[in-house]
Amino acid sequence: MDLSVLADPEAVGEHAASIVVAALAAKPALVLGVATGATPLPVYRRLARARRSGTDFSRLSVVALDEYIGLRAGHPASFAAYVRREVAGPLGVPAERLVVPEGRGERLEEQIRAAGGVDLQLLGIGRNGHLAFNEPGSPLDSRTRVVSLSQTTRSDNARSFGSEAVPTHAVTQGLSTILEARHLVLLATGSAKAAAVAAALTGPVTPDCPASVVQMHARVTVLVDEAAAAVDRDGAVGR
Ligand code: PGA
Repeated sequence: MDLSVLADPEAVGEHAASIVVAALAAKPALVLGVATGATPLPVYRRLARARRSGTDFSRLSVVALDEYIGLRAGHPASFAAYVRREVAGPLGVPAERLVVPEGRGERLEEQIRAAGGVDLQLLGIGRNGHLAFNEPGSPLDSRTRVVSLSQTTRSDNARSFGSEAVPTHAVTQGLSTILEARHLVLLATGSAKAAAVAAALTGPVTPDCPASVVQMHARVTVLVDEAAAAVDRDGAVGR
């Protein structure tokens, strides 16, 4: 595992974007797995800037990790909308090279295989240690499936829903699906993530902290800012 502690979220974004750009230079038809949420936004902003400066994204494919169940098509809080708005649009990725989970995710794994598998997977981490929407208790060998969302996750994501209720269920790539990506890049910023980061990287590999599965992968890059690298005084993982 290659761990870098960087000054702040922007520095994490800069470093992660440089990893993506280098991977793209080595393999122009890169399959990039993208995380949603606030953490990777600085990465996507920098990738969009790189495209404007001439980096060639024309053969890039993009695969999303997860999606809410029950939102109308095009709902602005849906992850499909996020991926189109923050990634596919700015990077010019056409619909035929964009894979987002649909329905109950029945076709997602087949679509990932058809794309050639994920080369580089960007990952966030939840305060409760979740990875994509694999909440605590998720089997380490889980595959793409429908899950119910924890209260922590629903309240953390409420900011995207205004007065609307946050969905109770989602479809997510499983932990074992995520581990099939060739390179994992885990990003975490802010003190609210510190305990989860410590548990994921230094604790046991356990369904209690789904992100701990990254310890099982041969090629993992972890980019955290100083706030996320500092363990909370009580060391407790948020639930
Ligand atoms: P965040 O979400 O980047 O918005 O904190 C990360 C996650 O829940 O996995």
